[in-house]
Amino acid sequence: ETDPSVVRLREGDAPGTRVRVLGRVHRLRQQKDVIFLTLTDGYALTLTLETSLSIHGEMRVVPPQQRAPLDRELHADFFSIIGVAAGDKEAITTRVPKDADPQTLYDNRHLVLRGDTAASVLKVRAGALRAFRQTFQEERLLEVTPPCMVQTQVEGGSTLFSFDYYGQTAYLTQSSQLYLETCLPSLGDVFCVAPSFRAEKSLTRRHLSEYTHIEGELDFITFADLLEHLEKVICRVIELILQDPHMAALVRELNPGFKPPSRPFRRMKYADAIDWLVQHNIPNDDGQLHLFGDDIAEAAERKMTDILNVPIFLTHFPVEIKAFYMKKDDSDRRVTESVDVLMPGVGEIVGGSMRMENYDELMEAYKREGIGSEPYYWYTDQRKYGTSPHGGYGLGLERFLAWMCGRYTVRECCLYPRFTGRCTP
Ligand code: 4AD
Ligand code: MG
Repeated sequence: ETDPSVVRLREGDAPGTRVRVLGRVHRLRQQKDVIFLTLTDGYALTLTLETSLSIHGEMRVVPPQQRAPLDRELHADFFSIIGVAAGDKEAITTRVPKDADPQTLYDNRHLVLRGDTAASVLKVRAGALRAFRQTFQEERLLEVTPPCMVQTQVEGGSTLFSFDYYGQTAYLTQSSQLYLETCLPSLGDVFCVAPSFRAEKSLTRRHLSEYTHIEGELDFITFADLLEHLEKVICRVIELILQDPHMAALVRELNPGFKPPSRPFRRMKYADAIDWLVQHNIPNDDGQLHLFGDDIAEAAERKMTDILNVPIFLTHFPVEIKAFYMKKDDSDRRVTESVDVLMPGVGEIVGGSMRMENYDELMEAYKREGIGSEPYYWYTDQRKYGTSPHGGYGLGLERFLAWMCGRYTVRECCLYPRFTGRCTP
């Protein structure tokens, strides 16, 4: 009853009730004269996987050791075929064989979705979205829905997708952060769930061109408050997902080793991470040891996270390698009040920071970034009309799911992945 995709029975149907179910042949198991799913012989030999059927019969409860979905069997006395699924060369198992190469899987993603694993991940995804929304409600963040067509960058010009907007250049949003900041004065703390777009040049297992970005922005807070909020949100979301027995079973199946994180998360400053990487002889992508000021490469970051094997708050990144809007640390002006949340198996799943609240400092930051301040007038205005200490973060839903569901790549964690060179199906 908790999983509507298994059989369409009405809640409360008692054993012995006559029912009619509609569905597709998901598994065919043939025994001497019985075919499971519960069809008797004859016609059944012509059945192909994914054929859709209407079945009339008597619903019976069976012992758990029979491993029937929901411990129920439908003893059919009449069935009719609605749509025959292609067989032979066109059979679904031929289109997507067990050992299919990745390209075949991506080309046939619409058929792959009918498999148990893909469906389970998407169900957990829905559960996660529900849990995030509930958590934000508990934390009193209001949902807003910012536009995706924009004329400003947030995370650097190199990953912008641009397009023609009535004769002007516009971009697909990289992050809704700047808009969320403008909501604080009137709406208080806010969040959004929206697609973000990045024209990533490299093919990696954790980069998509379009991903689902869950972003939060909090007013009148300190950096310590931001970290505490992040821990609370992540742990509460996991708790809510696993509270649902159906979700818990899916996660257990997908990722048997998954352990909910415990608070507080380990805190590590960027400078200490650099030392740690040097000590452990983990080089950067160019084969050299890391120096203060270097971007930590994806592989090195993941290696460190896997060795430490706990969630990590990596904080205080140097000004030069972080976005223009990030507030500098008053006690060390070389670094920012910034945080990445790193999870074993994936690495960064969240990026956040306190925001520059000072007008002059922000004008200076535009200059340093090499962008004109004019298109940002609406963002700058926040510092003119009652500025405030505030901060926020963005969480990549697909990376969160890759971590929770133990998937190798974020491409398995969305409906139809978009990445370098792929925009179909
Ligand atoms: O670290 P990022 O770039 O931070 C921001 O966009 C901030 N403006 C968010 C904010 O403060 N409101 O991106 C945030 C997160 C990353 O930690 C990662 O999980 C995800 O977004 N992300 C991607 N996920 C999949 N594919 C990509 N190409 C991603 N780029 C970022
Ligand atoms: Mg980041």
